[in-house]
Amino acid sequence: MKKVKFGIAGCGHIAKTHAKEILALPQAELAAICDIDPEVMQSFTRRYGVIGYRDYAEMLDRKDLDVVIICTPSGLHAEMGVMAACVGKHVLVEKPMALTLEDADILIDTCERKGVLLSVVLQNRFKPPCRLLKLAVEEGRFGKLSHAGITVRWNRDDAYFFNNPWRGKKGEDGGVMMNQAIHSIDMLQWLMGQVETLFAYTATRYRPIEAEDVGVVAIKFKRGALGVIEAASTVYPRNLEETIAVFGEKGTAVIGGVKADQIKTWCFSEEKEDDALYLGSEAVRCRKSGHQAVLQDLIKAIETGGRIAVDGREGRKSLEIVLGINRSSALGTPVSLPLK
Ligand SMILES: NC(=O)c1ccc[n+]([C@@H]2O[C@H](COP(=O)([O-])OP(=O)(O)OC[C@H]3O[C@@H](n4cnc5c(N)ncnc54)[C@H](O)[C@@H]3O)[C@@H](O)[C@H]2O)c1
Repeated sequence: MKKVKFGIAGCGHIAKTHAKEILALPQAELAAICDIDPEVMQSFTRRYGVIGYRDYAEMLDRKDLDVVIICTPSGLHAEMGVMAACVGKHVLVEKPMALTLEDADILIDTCERKGVLLSVVLQNRFKPPCRLLKLAVEEGRFGKLSHAGITVRWNRDDAYFFNNPWRGKKGEDGGVMMNQAIHSIDMLQWLMGQVETLFAYTATRYRPIEAEDVGVVAIKFKRGALGVIEAASTVYPRNLEETIAVFGEKGTAVIGGVKADQIKTWCFSEEKEDDALYLGSEAVRCRKSGHQAVLQDLIKAIETGGRIAVDGREGRKSLEIVLGINRSSALGTPVSLPLK
């Protein structure tokens, strides 16, 4: 079995999760890493026993690399993804895939033209509770959908922003919607379909940042149901919950926990044999980050020529909603999607 060789660009916080999961997969090999910070680069190479580079272009010269994982600050994702695609590497890009739709489209287009795969890390889609919820929606178990809500009540303290100055800057990161809530926003559109209009208030209440640290959004979906988003990185004193709730005429389901990792409510007029097992069940509880499933999905697509679960076009959807939220908040008016 030929192993898929990965290179990681940007060796900060989330790169460690990728490295750990690559090492756990027999079909994968961590072959190279790159970081502009020499100390970070060296500590990563020591810890994982891989060749390190400070220059991204130099890492891309490595002919043996199959995939480049982009774990740099968000404002660099699209450009670095394009560079990788241009030399024939598959691209696995952390969320958000870009900070503008123009950049997202250039990345999608380049990957398609160069014949490489593009996968966006939106790992909630792979979590067992979220998959069960998606299945229930697809099977029509809710009947006519009334509304859905996501609640991201987390804490990112001042140190989180001070230690990594790119965080909270509009051109490099964005605020709580772009960085933290995008996972649940992706869930919301995955379950409820396209957004028709939205109206948002966002504010920067506590953190010393350029972008927002709290926001609320009212949504009308194309199919007629309504939605609501509450997202904050200001919750005292620590992360409280990430909740996704779906309500229909014949069913109610709520996924909760600190990171949307367990089923809290699972109630349908037409019950199924396994329904009772899901509630609070350890079997469907997801304690893992979901990154391993993202990597496996990409490896399978490389090996079989199959499709990526969250490809560039899928990854673009939550980005567009976040950009719509930003626009609505800035204009003080409702915004229609697709964005013009
Ligand atoms: N999927 C998830 O759950 C999840 C979780 C955390 C972060 N993320 C995303 O991952 C990305 C990185 O976040 P983080 O928290 O790991 O950030 P971080 O600041 O901890 O790490 C970023 C690293 O990139 C390096 N870097 C910057 N410019 C570079 C360049 N040109 N070439 C090579 N290296 C460069 C920095 O030196 C730093 O070590 C962000 O886009 C973030 O949104 C995703």
